[in-house]
Amino acid sequence: MNIPYTFDLAPSTWIPSRYDNHIIRKLSSMKGQYYDTQAFDRLLAQSDPLLYEVYELSRPSVAGELLHGISIIHPGKVGNEYYMTKGHFHAVLDTAELYYCLGGNGMMVMETPEGDWAVEGFTAGKTLYIPPRWAHRSVNVGDLDLALLFIYPGHAGHDYGTIERQGFRKLVLDEGGEARVVDNPRWVHLEQIKSLLL
Ligand code: PA5
Ligand code: NI
Repeated sequence: MNIPYTFDLAPSTWIPSRYDNHIIRKLSSMKGQYYDTQAFDRLLAQSDPLLYEVYELSRPSVAGELLHGISIIHPGKVGNEYYMTKGHFHAVLDTAELYYCLGGNGMMVMETPEGDWAVEGFTAGKTLYIPPRWAHRSVNVGDLDLALLFIYPGHAGHDYGTIERQGFRKLVLDEGGEARVVDNPRWVHLEQIKSLLL
């Protein structure tokens, strides 16, 4: 119904008191996203752990609306790469997103189609503004759930394909108990390849 509403966030679990969709992402839906493919295959052979969940409140997918919800990335690693979201560009590239960290310890890995990159840290209370054109992936670098409130324009949509093909330019790895941002050896700059072919 088109009337104002509120919702509460349960402390510690951060599950909203109302939501319309509960999306769960398990390891099996992240094929090709982790750089250590052997660690990925080994883990998947044992079990199919739940990496993250999204609680969405549904609103019409139109400009003027604000889509919002909570994403919860669980703690864990595939090899030495932390649990993370798939990551995406918005299908309408010129749309921004706002994130507010409710709890946990994380990083947002971001990049533009031109190959610029940025990484920002998340602790409880940190707010992150992602300008239009920046792909984004949330990474849990802590031992607790990373809980994030997100808000973005109704017409933004998701482009997962670009990241599935080229990966992110930067990886976040556990190196001796410290989260380190390193180059992704398999990153390819699709925009550059396209411009060479034209
Ligand atoms: O719109 C967003 O950026 C978030 O709602 C994400 O969709 C959420 O964090 C899950 O990530 P992804 O959509 O990359 O799987
Ligand atoms: Ni987004």
